[in-house]
Amino acid sequence: MSSNRAALVRANETDPALDEEIENILAGLTAPIKHLSPKYFYDDFGLRLFEEICRLPEYYPTRTERKIMDGHLPEMAPLIGPRVSVIEFGSGSSQKIRQLLDGLAEPAAYVPVDISAPYLSSMASSLAKDYPTLQVVPVLADFTRPFDLPTHAVAPERNLVFFPGSTIGNFERPEARSLLEVMRHEAGPGGALLIGVDLKKDPRIVRAAYNDSAGVTARFNLNVLRRLNSELGANFDLSGFQHKAVYDELQGRIEMRLVSRKAQRARFAGHSIDFRAGEHIVTEYSHKYSLDEFAALARSAGLEPIRAWCDADALFSVHYLTVPQ
Ligand code: AVJ
Repeated sequence: MSSNRAALVRANETDPALDEEIENILAGLTAPIKHLSPKYFYDDFGLRLFEEICRLPEYYPTRTERKIMDGHLPEMAPLIGPRVSVIEFGSGSSQKIRQLLDGLAEPAAYVPVDISAPYLSSMASSLAKDYPTLQVVPVLADFTRPFDLPTHAVAPERNLVFFPGSTIGNFERPEARSLLEVMRHEAGPGGALLIGVDLKKDPRIVRAAYNDSAGVTARFNLNVLRRLNSELGANFDLSGFQHKAVYDELQGRIEMRLVSRKAQRARFAGHSIDFRAGEHIVTEYSHKYSLDEFAALARSAGLEPIRAWCDADALFSVHYLTVPQ
């Protein structure tokens, strides 16, 4: 193990008791509008499908965010300053963090916060190897619940919370605001946030991104039922459900759905789950913002919007926000 790699720190309960998980799923499946949390997409198979989604011609967010970072890191870096500790929420892809670290002046520490221990470990060791002066402090935590950050061996100049990929879009606006408050707290007074946010745009572009012609998003969506069957003994008929992503222009959000092709019944945790023909399960929201709308949300969470960058087609944005002293 390299010397700059700290042992994994467990900061809160990432693995609530299985019965609590089952109760949550059951509550979603028996609600008037059936729903499941998007966190269930991401087992190994789901993570691989998501990586495939990121390379689809229709799925613009990943490559557009990378382009924005490429083009504007020289402006971002002086605002962020030297010797920061980068705290990444839901340390998604190691590519993104490398791009950021390479653009910053002498980054002091990297603190990935994630619910997957194997993922954190492999990510931490490869980064520690390639950035020998960087303190790598992986934190095992569910970032949607409160947690405490470990103190660093070397005190950083300031904290930068990094939250790329528009994962903030998964949360309904009030929850997104609470999450921004958690990030403000983790960054601390004088700290900063760098957040990727998908923008409102021509609905046809959004619909295509979530209804790709190769059907990868459909497989990604159906993976959640496959997991309920294989991991929790449910018996959903996968061929009895159809993927559909609907853009609600009024709410400014994509709703990922699994639509029942027929009247049917499934068993889950000793309960019958009945579906009418055409009834759906909501598996994910993906909220889209205008630049002003996101800045207002950030302000309501006690943050100060300093700058936002977007691509020439205004598809995606990256926001730099600060925490008042
Ligand atoms: C990982 C939440 C940013 O909302 O675009 C991609 C997930 N779902 N295609 C998104 C996703 C369907 C993605 N986020």
